[in-house]
Amino acid sequence: MKQLPTTENGLHGEIVVPGDKSISHRALMFGAMANGTTKVLKRLDSADVSSTISVLKALGARITEIDDETTEVIGSGITGLKDPSTTLDMGNSGTSTRLLTGLITGAGIKASIIGDDSLSTRPMKRVTDPLAEIGGQLSTTNGHLPIEIAASKLAPTIKQTLKVGSAQVKSALLLAGLAAGSDTFVTDPFKTRNHTEQMLPKFGVKVEITGEMIHIPAGQKLQPTTIEVPDDISSAAYWIVAGLITPNSQLTIKNVGVNPTRTGLLTVLKKMGADITIDQKETVGEPIADITVKTSQLHGTVVDGDIIPSLIDEIPMIVLAATQAEGQTIIKDAGELRVKETDRIQTVTEELNKLNAQVIATDDGFIINGPVQLLANDTHVSGHADHRIAMMLSVAALVTNGTIVLDDDESVQISYPTFFNNLEGIV
Ligand code: S3P
Repeated sequence: MKQLPTTENGLHGEIVVPGDKSISHRALMFGAMANGTTKVLKRLDSADVSSTISVLKALGARITEIDDETTEVIGSGITGLKDPSTTLDMGNSGTSTRLLTGLITGAGIKASIIGDDSLSTRPMKRVTDPLAEIGGQLSTTNGHLPIEIAASKLAPTIKQTLKVGSAQVKSALLLAGLAAGSDTFVTDPFKTRNHTEQMLPKFGVKVEITGEMIHIPAGQKLQPTTIEVPDDISSAAYWIVAGLITPNSQLTIKNVGVNPTRTGLLTVLKKMGADITIDQKETVGEPIADITVKTSQLHGTVVDGDIIPSLIDEIPMIVLAATQAEGQTIIKDAGELRVKETDRIQTVTEELNKLNAQVIATDDGFIINGPVQLLANDTHVSGHADHRIAMMLSVAALVTNGTIVLDDDESVQISYPTFFNNLEGIV
């Protein structure tokens, strides 16, 4: 339980957010698949990434913290990964579960996968069905965890087109094909985040991209390398919106990863009238920028269609911004939110409306009418054990006329353990 901080003079300063969660998971996994020592610099240190690390260790990789910024992963190649002697516990992490289910199936490993209560309600057939179609021997429990994987031998040629707009499913299929040594073709009509196909070439893997199709030619091995993880735009999102909606504010978030498959939030906020400056840096690999935001009078907009995968994790923050925007905001085509760590259409609506917001839940999104003064008087809100809801509510507290108590603040450990330190540094 935590009384959330408020501000009197606006938000000011520079913020450094932790490393990107999606990229941290992938760098560690690919390091474990390579033969030799990979260095992962500035990775996210959070509960979800710890789930990936403990599972990779159970599969035989050696992973050591060298210093505050460096994690060393020593792998013995894909064939060096072994059947684990224990059940693999993925905690709360959907990305660990789905990507590693692909990797384990492709590598011919036998394993049982479990997770916490939230993860155990999330759909898994989206990954096990296509893996079974290409020769995987695996089963879910009524579409959910536990997943049982038997030693599998995948087809020599794999061709799959995504049926859901999920980078986790895309990556699971690519990792399965790569681990099996198959000629692998995965088509992604949804343009989901592309970190897997961007990073594999750094591990010496040939990846050919033609339009929506990703091709990993057969029989490739991963070479160890060094990966520097950019800071997470999904964590920067809290401060981007906080700086825009809190009066008298100016914030700069440093060194944020601005891969175009992740920056839908910036596009939408600019369309809403946000004062955002993106100062892009010279980089190799994932693009990086300093992002500066100033208090802005926002107006309503429509968010739908192709842009949704590029901002899926940031939608709770778009809804909060929309409560402070002039006019109506409509968010559609975001039914995926119903199967995240919580049903985020329901949890966002329920919690913001406790504070006098005018949010209407629809089947696949929201209708938000603004601007409203958010109201509270020692009002208790809940993140429903969902990290992104807890952090969104903590930003809402900054523009609320009264005090808010967050019943469950521990969930920030999942993706952003230093969230409250950063918050206290700018109020
Ligand atoms: C992720 C993909 C997204 C995102 C999740 C991380 C990834 O999930 O919501 O937080 O690292 O691939 P989906 O791919 O299921 O949309």
